[in-house]
Amino acid sequence: MRTSITLPLVHKREVPTQFKDDDNRFAESLVEYFLKNYTQKGDIVLDIFAGLGTTFFVAEEMERIPYGVEYLEDRYLYIKEHVKSKDNIIHGDALKLLEYQLPKCDFCLASPVYMNKEDTENPYTACETNGSYEQYLEDTRRIYSYVKEIMKPDSYIVIEVSNLKRNGVVTTLAWDIAKTVSEVLHFEGEIIVNWVGNGSEKEDGIYNYGYDHSYCLVFRNK
Ligand SMILES: C[S@@+](CC[C@H](N)C(=O)[O-])C[C@H]1O[C@@H](n2cnc3c(N)ncnc32)[C@H](O)[C@@H]1O
Repeated sequence: MRTSITLPLVHKREVPTQFKDDDNRFAESLVEYFLKNYTQKGDIVLDIFAGLGTTFFVAEEMERIPYGVEYLEDRYLYIKEHVKSKDNIIHGDALKLLEYQLPKCDFCLASPVYMNKEDTENPYTACETNGSYEQYLEDTRRIYSYVKEIMKPDSYIVIEVSNLKRNGVVTTLAWDIAKTVSEVLHFEGEIIVNWVGNGSEKEDGIYNYGYDHSYCLVFRNK
């Protein structure tokens, strides 16, 4: 397994204006890298935080079969409108994953909503309820215990995530998620993704959150 890769932080697909202020999509290059190296044509690829559908779009382009869940209705509708496999996107909650009729999957790639350790709103309810960082990590562990149930034996599960720097305080989000999800899935190790862009370097890091890199945490359903 390569433990450090360099990828372009470029979004090939334009999104409607309504999503531009909260555009936290994968770069297509990330999805392409993992689908090329971890899957084959015809494989079922799961994204439990489907967002604006990057995993869906790239999977269809690469002749994989995407399935996924998205909490926000406008994002869900955007994906549904633009993909071929319209029945495979579910408007739902990853914390209810086992209530949906999902098939056994070959590969899972997803990036959760992020949370700083001092935040007090629950990002898994679109910040509509109160929460704590401890609860968020526990929910993340619970979600991945459900993912385990629907993955094929020996399949890979990849979580893309960054640590977060805000006002001089670092939340070790990537490391905390690695630790908590390791309680339910076998942790194979991390891949550092060094992001390169074609614009000027951003003060907050090219990736954002104070960093130029993120982590892909690679787990296996053993
Ligand atoms: C970092 S974004 C994912 C972006 C995605 N990888 C893409 O390329 O478009 C995380 C997504 O998780 C969704 N989300 C938040 N809470 C959720 C939940 N409980 N269940 C499912 N999705 C959730 C958010 O609405 C957001 O769209």
